[in-house]
Amino acid sequence: MKTNSLHAILDTIWSKLESALVERQSPFKIMSLATSDQAGTVSQRSVVLRAIERGYALVFYTDQRSAKLRDIDQNDQVSLLFYDSNDQVQVTCQGVAQVKNVDTADLSNFSLRYRKDYTTTLAPGTSVGDPEEVSYDSDKLHFAQVNVILSKIGYLKLDRERHIRASFKRIDNDWVGDYLVP
Ligand SMILES: Cc1cc2nc3c(=O)[nH]c(=O)nc-3n(C[C@H](O)[C@H](O)[C@H](O)COP(=O)(O)O)c2cc1C
Repeated sequence: MKTNSLHAILDTIWSKLESALVERQSPFKIMSLATSDQAGTVSQRSVVLRAIERGYALVFYTDQRSAKLRDIDQNDQVSLLFYDSNDQVQVTCQGVAQVKNVDTADLSNFSLRYRKDYTTTLAPGTSVGDPEEVSYDSDKLHFAQVNVILSKIGYLKLDRERHIRASFKRIDNDWVGDYLVP
């Protein structure tokens, strides 16, 4: 019974993540990505969840020149955080970030509007005197896909009667779960 419930929790987590890919208003569409550089300085930022390999990986897109990729180059261990305030569910993930070379021609849903985000002439984070000084070079697409291969997932559901907290670890291709004191 206990194991069944843990399986159901893990199933709920993956289903919530999958629905975020198609439901525009899903709170799981945006995740907070934490990285750390060699010196141990931690940075966080929001990124859009773009794809899922159920039971294995979460995918986001970014600019090849971004600070997050510099961090990942120094330390590929990352953490992801989701919170759904509607059902008071928090999901935390740990994993290894792998930067993929992608031919954007293969990305069927990659519209021109989104292409622009990856074509700034200067690298993201460069200081400019005025936002209007930001220019684009549509010939140079600095696009990167990052796959986060998950090794650990944490779950917390707040409930007036009893909070439910669980932790899951991936061992090979199986996920092993435990309940924890919230
Ligand atoms: C709602 C929201 C979604 C975002 N999605 C992305 C994204 O998918 N990829 C990305 O690189 N930056 C995204 N950003 C911008 C990042 O939060 C961040 O400001 C930017 O990538 C620079 O981060 P870095 O300097 O730490 O690399 C998003 C910002 C917001 C507010």
